[in-house]
Amino acid sequence: MSDRIPHALTGEVGDPTFLARVAAEGPRLERLFHEIYGDDARARSELEGVLADAAESWASRPAALKRRDAERLADPDWYQSNRMLGGVCYVDRYAGDLPGLARHIPYFRELGLSYLHLMPLFLAPEGNSDGGYAVSSYRQVDPALGTIQDLAAVAADLHDAGISLVVDFIFNHTSNEHEWAKRALAGEQEFEDYYWFFPDREMPERYERTVREIFPDDHPGSFVQLPDGRWVWATFHSFQWDLNYRNPAVFRAMAREMLFLANQGVDILRMDAVAFIWKELGTACESLPQAHLLLQAFNAVCRIAAPSMLFKSEAIVHPDEVIQYISPGECQLSYNPLQMALLWSTLATRDVGLLQQALDRRHALPPGTAWVNYVRSHDDIGWTFADEDATELGIDGFDHRRFLNAFYVGRFPGSFADGVPFQENPRTGDARVAGTTASLLGLERGDPGAVPRILLAHSVVLSTGGIPLLYLGDEVGQTNDHAYAEEPGHGEDSRWVGRPRYPVDAYAQRNDESTDAGRIFAGLRHLIAVRQRTPELAGNTLVPFHTRNPHVLGYQRPGDSGTVVVLANFADEEQTVDAEVLSGLPDVALDLASDASVALRDGLRLAPHGFVWLHVDGDSARRSEQA
Ligand code: GLC
Ligand code: GLC
Repeated sequence: MSDRIPHALTGEVGDPTFLARVAAEGPRLERLFHEIYGDDARARSELEGVLADAAESWASRPAALKRRDAERLADPDWYQSNRMLGGVCYVDRYAGDLPGLARHIPYFRELGLSYLHLMPLFLAPEGNSDGGYAVSSYRQVDPALGTIQDLAAVAADLHDAGISLVVDFIFNHTSNEHEWAKRALAGEQEFEDYYWFFPDREMPERYERTVREIFPDDHPGSFVQLPDGRWVWATFHSFQWDLNYRNPAVFRAMAREMLFLANQGVDILRMDAVAFIWKELGTACESLPQAHLLLQAFNAVCRIAAPSMLFKSEAIVHPDEVIQYISPGECQLSYNPLQMALLWSTLATRDVGLLQQALDRRHALPPGTAWVNYVRSHDDIGWTFADEDATELGIDGFDHRRFLNAFYVGRFPGSFADGVPFQENPRTGDARVAGTTASLLGLERGDPGAVPRILLAHSVVLSTGGIPLLYLGDEVGQTNDHAYAEEPGHGEDSRWVGRPRYPVDAYAQRNDESTDAGRIFAGLRHLIAVRQRTPELAGNTLVPFHTRNPHVLGYQRPGDSGTVVVLANFADEEQTVDAEVLSGLPDVALDLASDASVALRDGLRLAPHGFVWLHVDGDSARRSEQA
């Protein structure tokens, strides 16, 4: 394989570790290329180009990052630690710009972050850029935020603070202002071949028979017409043009951009919109086998030239599909959209059935991978549970989604939520919901259950394993930004309601427990501290614990020196877990969440939205599961 690397470069690289990685990963990359592109001369030459780029990228990788590579290769499970905690924010909205962000690092340490996802910060069109998800250059930071040197400096500062940097790799599409798009429009064949252009509606219509509409408010279907009459594939907004990965030159070009980002100090790439990258007539053009092969090929390139960088999959799709992206050779990390959606479902229905079922059967992952568990993201909440699973519990998926949409936009009697609808599609009945955690859980309208619900929701993501991810500002109970539409380019996209600017007042109150912000912050800080000192909460192993109470979720997190048994009450009233259910547990156990001993012999009473993290010795917990 190494014979494919131009000799001049191997000489220059002169690094046996690099050549060893080429020997280990090169054959896989070659096989994947062959599977995707066949064995024509063009594909072979692009593959050689990819390897040459990888060699060049390694040669220019900063020494500090090479040391990081070596450390992480020696400790490959670093991200499975119970000390992992993620945060996500927009640089401009949270901190103004990149130097401003660096000034928040002391706070990130106070909170306990070890992972920070900065929302898209690259050059993008003025006005609406889908929050930066329309990238005009992967090598240039949005000038309002700083420069690429600022990004590398922030990465280094974060690393010094023990925090890994996560940025997006928006590789399904570029903006229509990217140089490639401009040159394509200007008629350069080489770049026309980077995208999907059609002379008329014939092919778009054939594709649209089987492809779903993602942003129907922006344009119907998946194609938009250009001023010259042609049509171009645009799954998301009209200004986000899908790249054509059937062209191996696109893979090479994007692999080069990926390695450029890696060399700025990015530790984890959030692989945006993975489901959409391969298209095939007559299919849904989502999650096709080649989408996986492409991700695996990117993964192989990464293993060769930026070996410590991990991928996080953003597949907000059916759970059977979500899981297919997760493996050490593809994406080591993945959002857990099922847990997210079902947390909200459970908070609305107060019935844990669907969430319990998901934890029982859809939580397990292959070794060398982890979930990123979250209460909400910058996006809408989509109801991506499996209808088949719901049917087993006597729940009709379509009706349940309708109920959840109505509930969270406050149209259901008795609802506590102040969410806003997103992309309501009258044709299909589909809709999603936008809003901050606090507003969706009743804080805005002063519902007395709001603070306990916020803590309950976070207690689940903090105790089910993987990397818990906080949407920064939610830890002090930020509420919706109802003025979002006044900002240029945001009016058409209700997701901005859930992306408020840095909540100055709430942060100022965070150490005052007479305020909501203070109670939420203190509660979360405590749970985070407990998690950090509880090794049982690392990794992903989760054993069911059925409480026989429809309002109380249960699971166990076994470790080497004991087990944590989690019991969580989603009802608005006190609930009891019967003595019989607890009979395998000791008479008294320490509740890590409250630092108090609790008696279990006569059953356990849980306050409304109350939860316990019981630390027991491993054997007794397993006995109880068999009971
Ligand atoms: C992802 C992002 C979302 C964006 C879309 C298109 O789903 O999370 O915000 O609109 O990709 O890039
Ligand atoms: C994502 C998802 C879609 C989601 C959207 C962001 O890629 O696939 O369901 O709602 O983009 O809003």
